[in-house]
Amino acid sequence: MITRSFFLFLSQNKFVKNRATKWGPKFGAKTVIAGETINEAMKTVRELNEKGLAATVDHLGEFVNNREEAIESMEYCVKTLDAIAESGVDCNLSLKLTSLGLDIDRNLCRDNMLRILEIAQGHGNFIRIDMEDYSHLDATLDLLQELRQQFSNVGTAIQGYLYRSENDIRLLEGINLRLIKGAYKEAPDVAYQQKEEVDQNYLNIIKSHMLNGSYAAVATHDHRIIDKVKAFTKENNIGKDEFEFQMLYGFRTQLQTDIASEGYKMRVYVPFGEDWYAYFMRRLAERPQNVSFAIRGMLSK
Ligand code: FDA
Repeated sequence: MITRSFFLFLSQNKFVKNRATKWGPKFGAKTVIAGETINEAMKTVRELNEKGLAATVDHLGEFVNNREEAIESMEYCVKTLDAIAESGVDCNLSLKLTSLGLDIDRNLCRDNMLRILEIAQGHGNFIRIDMEDYSHLDATLDLLQELRQQFSNVGTAIQGYLYRSENDIRLLEGINLRLIKGAYKEAPDVAYQQKEEVDQNYLNIIKSHMLNGSYAAVATHDHRIIDKVKAFTKENNIGKDEFEFQMLYGFRTQLQTDIASEGYKMRVYVPFGEDWYAYFMRRLAERPQNVSFAIRGMLSK
């Protein structure tokens, strides 16, 4: 059986990555990645908007090796924000701090973020910092707090599988947070390993964040969690404009439009770019049964 760990291993394997990216996002990848260019991404976002769905785009590219690449990545974010404004679409931007140089030089990463936030603010747009693996958590929250001293149009994501998230949520009161279960393989000393425990903690942090009056983006494909959040918000008179649901592009598309047609805000996370490989592998790790054929196709070419 192909396991979660196997795909997480492949997500960091350079040899397979080089072979796969040579062929472009074909096979299963095409259904979950909106092409390689900004134009392709904008076309996808327009189609989603026409179905009543908001979007957040993410230019894929996780591992930068030097300052020049980190600056290039910042410039690409700026270009994407300009394209969103020009297209007039309902869409914000998600990004990863490592792609802006977090592992190279914190000050470089901060300066890149300040530039992006300034442009986003000019366009009246919002920036979501994706949460990466546990080794980047403290640095991400620390930088977020610093950026929030100058900009309010920025938030991050908090992972339900971590023991400390309930406490982090309290420290981040008032900030627009995306709440997720968590996509990386983390050790038992920092993260729940059992699905039931992750689900319970996930629901707890959603409730805590909403009850303290903060905006929550509930990002999950789990219909059981979604139903519980709908019931919880009704019981607690939390308005449909005080939170949103989010799902990934290409996943549970019927459910996405169903939720939007009930009057909830549904935002679709739309990844695009040439560096799609690690993203695709993490999605396979979450649901190997959906697309396990894809990896065999890529390796045999
Ligand atoms: P999970 O995978 O636990 O599934 C629960 C149940 O839901 C399944 O048993 C099944 O019944 C149903 N289900 C799920 N997917 C289905 C499908 N495709 N078809 C049919 N049924 C399905 N992670 C991270 O670490 N940092 C981040 O910044 C982000 N960002 C992010 C943004 C957005 C918009 C989303 C949706 C997710 C993320 N993630 C993330 C990933 C997240 O942490 C998590 O790994 C995945 O969403 C998988 O967990 P789920 O909650 O979706 O359901």
